Amino acid sequence: MNIIETIVSVGIKSPFRVVHISDTHLTDADLRDGERKVLLAEKRKKIFPGAEQTLERACQLAREQGIPILHTGDLLDFVSIANLEKAKEFTDKNDCFMAAGNHEFSLYVGEAKEDAAYRNQSLAIVQTAFKNNIRMSSRVIGDVNFVALDNGYYLFDVDQLAFLKAEVSKQMPIVLLLHNPLYERALYDVIMKKSPCAYLVGVPEALMQGYPADRLEQQRADDVTREAVAYIQREPKIKAIIAGHIHFNYEGVFANRIPQITTSCTDIRHIEFV
Ligand SMILES: [Fe+2]
Repeated sequence: MNIIETIVSVGIKSPFRVVHISDTHLTDADLRDGERKVLLAEKRKKIFPGAEQTLERACQLAREQGIPILHTGDLLDFVSIANLEKAKEFTDKNDCFMAAGNHEFSLYVGEAKEDAAYRNQSLAIVQTAFKNNIRMSSRVIGDVNFVALDNGYYLFDVDQLAFLKAEVSKQMPIVLLLHNPLYERALYDVIMKKSPCAYLVGVPEALMQGYPADRLEQQRADDVTREAVAYIQREPKIKAIIAGHIHFNYEGVFANRIPQITTSCTDIRHIEFV
């Protein structure tokens, strides 16, 4: 676990700091959710053994400095009573602003096609563990408007695009919290060296031709998503993107203009906005 110091320039007069973490992947379950979920928890805990430790260290840093935590999703690995209790304890004890990830709504992992109908099976219960609307929210910290949008299924929807435009009309600098990073060629190239697909939003069709069929269906942008990505690209009020999903640390630039930063599951990013 490392604490990474990062400075992000958003053009403000009074700098401030936040803690960024992502993809914690809590993997608890007990018999209140049944045997199948307990077995899933045992299996998944081996993949994410450091979840609690990273979360606790991030809480400690945030408390020591009296600063908020920005979480860009997959705090839960799957929906369970034990995971939701732990998430609620975390958001009760800490000042956390959150964008949901795809795993927030996973009833099991990789069992079903993940779409709005699937998400809606658990959205209401998952939302009870968090303080802000995890599908779309905004919050002003310092002189920056943080806008959190759940794009964990590689899509933005009509309501989210309208919400973002309304936030832009407030005339403040915006930092986006997304779960899935937006396509940028350098990041695409890094991921495609080790994976059959890039796990990014808004990848050009021509660059998805080699994707496996299920990944193409999962990650192909629809019209609203392409409109939202184009809007983000050209909107000067949007100053930075903070994301997760890819489980490694990355500092890049979206659309040759907007810093885009991800933080791994096990590291903590201490960001200063200036
Ligand atoms: Fe994740």
